[in-house]
Amino acid sequence: MELKKVFAFGLLFELISLATGLDRSDFPSSFLFGTATSCYQIEGGYLEGNKSLNNWDVFTHMPGNIKDGSTGDVADDHYHRYMEDVELMHSLGVNSYRFSISWSRVLPRGRFGEINSIGVKFYNDLIDALLLKGSI
Ligand SMILES: *[C@@H]1O[C@H](CO)[C@@H](O)[C@H](O)[C@H]1NC(C)=O
Repeated sequence: MELKKVFAFGLLFELISLATGLDRSDFPSSFLFGTATSCYQIEGGYLEGNKSLNNWDVFTHMPGNIKDGSTGDVADDHYHRYMEDVELMHSLGVNSYRFSISWSRVLPRGRFGEINSIGVKFYNDLIDALLLKGSI
C-alpha cells in the first residue's frame, strides 16, 4: 500500500469519528477494524517467483485496453514491500486484513499443474507477518 493511501484511510477513520462522535471505545472489544485489498491491484511482481500470467496481466498488456497503458506489473509493490504494508496497517490500529490470493502465483500451470512453492511461501510469510502484529 502506498503511504498516501494509508494516510487516506487514517483520515477517513478520523472523519467518521468526528462526524458520528463515535470512537473505538464505542465498539465491543471483539469488533474487527479492517482493511482489504485485491492481489492484482497491490502485489506487482508480475513475473517473479515463478508466477505465470493471469487474465489481467494479459488484458492490460494489450494495446488499447487501458486508456493510459498502465498495468499492475508493479502496482503498490506489495510483493516486495509487504512487511512495510503490514507495519502501516498495524500503525493504523486495524486488526483484520482481507486479501486475495493470486492463483497464477500459487498454481502457475492451473489446477492440474504443480503447486508453486515460491508463491505459497510469499503468502505464508505475509500471514506470519500479520500474525506477529496481531492481525487475523
Ligand atoms: C521455477 O521455475 C523454474 C523454471 O521452470 C524451475 O526450474 C524451478 O524449479 C522453479 N522453482 C520452484 C521453486 O518451483
